[in-house]
Amino acid sequence: MARPKIALIGAGNIGGTLAHLAALKELGDVVLFDIADGLPQGKALDIAESGPVEKIDADMSGTSDYAGIAGADVCIVTAGVARKPGMSRDDLLGINLKVMKSVGEGIAAHAPDAFVICITNPLDAMVWALQKFSGLPAHKVCGMAGVLDSARFRHFLAEEFNVSMRDVTAFVLGGHGDTMVPSVRYSTVAGIPLPDLIEMGWTTQEKLDAMVQRTRDGGAEIVGLLKTGSAFYAPAASAIEMAEAYLKDQKRVLPCAAYCDGDLGVKDMYVGVPTVIGAGGIEKIVNIKLNKEEQEMFDVSVKAVQGLVDACKGIDGSLN
Ligand code: APR
Repeated sequence: MARPKIALIGAGNIGGTLAHLAALKELGDVVLFDIADGLPQGKALDIAESGPVEKIDADMSGTSDYAGIAGADVCIVTAGVARKPGMSRDDLLGINLKVMKSVGEGIAAHAPDAFVICITNPLDAMVWALQKFSGLPAHKVCGMAGVLDSARFRHFLAEEFNVSMRDVTAFVLGGHGDTMVPSVRYSTVAGIPLPDLIEMGWTTQEKLDAMVQRTRDGGAEIVGLLKTGSAFYAPAASAIEMAEAYLKDQKRVLPCAAYCDGDLGVKDMYVGVPTVIGAGGIEKIVNIKLNKEEQEMFDVSVKAVQGLVDACKGIDGSLN
């Protein structure tokens, strides 16, 4: 049986890291696509030359022609502009919306059966626009945010408790922006919910609140440190986890930006929700019950995403 084909649309910091991780995990053959001449070809060749050392059996190629992604099983989209210090994810909207149009058309023409994972920011609005531009079924187009935001929260929690991050689960809902909702009730250490750990004296409410806020600001913290771009190792690792769940039909329960058609009370929008990812793409949205406080925070986040979607519609009339 032929190896799966993974197309990476955008060969910048995240795209290159995605290619490296996909190769190291031998998820399939990888094609990098970018409009920057030589960049996808150079990164593909560089990674291919690590193959004999790492013992990787996979083809790596780079292209600036959409024909090169033909028949891809998975497309991961990072094409666009990344944040610089002082910019919010929303500042990227106008530029990246145009990029989503060309990417959507390219995928529709050459890889219409792919499972598409969008990473380009502002994420929830871009994945919504990408699905519309591509015309692919909504359950085959999703956005990577929740896995990354949850990973950041898990990292902070594991450090605070001095336990293995393997035993820390966390759950972040809502839009991938300042209004995201790290769910304290549904985050655990080995099954013990965080509120119980406060009662047990493992941490305090103040410390937990600070970790929640640090999670919300996680992207900006990295941008502030790097100064020339935004995070790429953790975003790439997170998207690879989603791609692997699809390619291996793992039925993983992962938070991601999925198309909601009434789910959690959200209509015709992409927003971060718990999902099941398997060979069918987004096979299920887990309709968890939120308490009053969580619902209020979730509503604020959904409203922020709605504002970005409306802005997209204002810029490109074909999205109405
Ligand atoms: N088609 C294909 N590639 C494009 C296009 C396009 N129309 N426009 C830009 N690109 C490419 C750029 O040439 C660049 O190589 O997208 C790549 C983006 O790479 P980086 O600038 O290194 O950005 P990166 O850190 O990878 O982040 C990409 O993901 O997390 C989000 O906010 C982030 O929106 C940004 C995206």
